[in-house]
Amino acid sequence: MSITVRHLRQWKAEGQRFTVLTAYDYSMARLVSQAEIPVILVGDSLGQVMLGYATTLPVTMEDMIHHTAAVARGAAGCLVVADMPFLSYQVTAEDAVRNAGRLIKEGGAHAVKLEGGEDMAGVTAALVRADIAVMGHVGLTPQAVHQLGGYRTQAVDSAGRRKLLADARALEKAGAFSVVLEKVPDQAAAAVTKALSIPTIGIGSGPECDGQVLVTHDLLGLFNDYTPPFVKRYAELGQTAIAAMSAFANDVREARFPGPKEKAEES
Ligand code: KIV
Repeated sequence: MSITVRHLRQWKAEGQRFTVLTAYDYSMARLVSQAEIPVILVGDSLGQVMLGYATTLPVTMEDMIHHTAAVARGAAGCLVVADMPFLSYQVTAEDAVRNAGRLIKEGGAHAVKLEGGEDMAGVTAALVRADIAVMGHVGLTPQAVHQLGGYRTQAVDSAGRRKLLADARALEKAGAFSVVLEKVPDQAAAAVTKALSIPTIGIGSGPECDGQVLVTHDLLGLFNDYTPPFVKRYAELGQTAIAAMSAFANDVREARFPGPKEKAEES
């Protein structure tokens, strides 16, 4: 079965919770799809996780298209959502449509995600008019890190909660099919989830969202530069990988690899 935006709407209506995980390449997309995670996000977090940048800001359209195309080749049956990188949609709606179109035509994404609330409602509406499915992203918006003064929890007071709700409602009205709520208090996320007819997808925003998203490398223990406190590490694959590579090096040093079983086929 191929997941579409209609499934997300249906799950919201039925109160069925769902998951979203990031992937940035073919092999990880295959694993996420085999785990029956319905939605894959090619997040611009690839800037930190894949490319070693300090923030998502340097990520380019070419980076996003390259990684999205690899994910799309491995993402059998999943809905593939690609992040629009910094300054690919903030300058004009025309730019936004052209760049989102590239993620779909060249990258093979089914939908795009962009950050911002009321201020991005016009751009969201322009994309939807061009028949491009849009996932919104409000609360902590990492592309605004310098304007926000860091990666702090958002919507912590009543003005912030009102703004969060207004932002999410504006995206819903503009035609977004879902909205990510990043790093907002549980009660604020619960109130937005209750108020919207489109699904909310939480990250660091408590248990009441319709869906939950995590960076797969955080969940698997593959990215150890920094793990946000809201992440649950379901595995320590980084440690497993280091142990396996050390074992390989030891085997070579001690002439145990290649052994009698590790031979190329003869014909
Ligand atoms: O870039 C990303 O991975 C994201 C998620 C953390 C929501 O935007």
